[in-house]
Amino acid sequence: MALVFFSYKSLPVNNAKFDLKKTEEAYHSKTVLVEKLLAPKEKVVVAEVEFKEYAPVVDLNTPQLVAGHKLYTQCISCHGKGGEGKSSQKAPFIGGQFDWYIEKQLVDMKSGARVNAVMNPILKGLSPQDMKDLAAYVSRLPWKKPVEVAEGAEAPAAAQ
Ligand code: HEC
Repeated sequence: MALVFFSYKSLPVNNAKFDLKKTEEAYHSKTVLVEKLLAPKEKVVVAEVEFKEYAPVVDLNTPQLVAGHKLYTQCISCHGKGGEGKSSQKAPFIGGQFDWYIEKQLVDMKSGARVNAVMNPILKGLSPQDMKDLAAYVSRLPWKKPVEVAEGAEAPAAAQ
């Protein structure tokens, strides 16, 4: 016969060995354990990236571009100094992209509206102003995708 019970409190207790207090403690500790297991994972803390001096490829003629250049230090490893991207990191080229598009992507990836496991945590520490500054800087990166000439196709006419 299987004895099914939903709460030890419903058991008829007239056994001296049954210690209600201990049972309650054990039950409580299990509950706490389960709560801990179900709790969201610790927040990911992205290490502060030290600003390393690097030659700007953009004319830093406004305070915003100076700020953007500094902030972009933490993006170079994946998107490249010129915003050319890096296939091995699956990081797209972003240099020369419209500033409003860059800013929107950053805002969306920070809010989680656009999900990417790599980018989302990077943006946690950036303010709305930081994202504007980055967008201004990235949009001015002079990088342009080289024109690929398909095999057999005629090469594009040289500029006059
Ligand atoms: C560890 C690598 C890594 C770093 C560092 C990184 N990114 Fe990215 N970034 C990615 C990847 C991967 C994607 C592609 C996201 C996707 O597939 O949705 C991406 C996407 C983007 C996009 C969207 C491009 C588009 O065309 O929609 C922007 C904008 C961007 N990153 C800007 C930045 C900026 C600015 C920084 C620095 C604050 C930065 N990223 C740092 C890897 C990185």
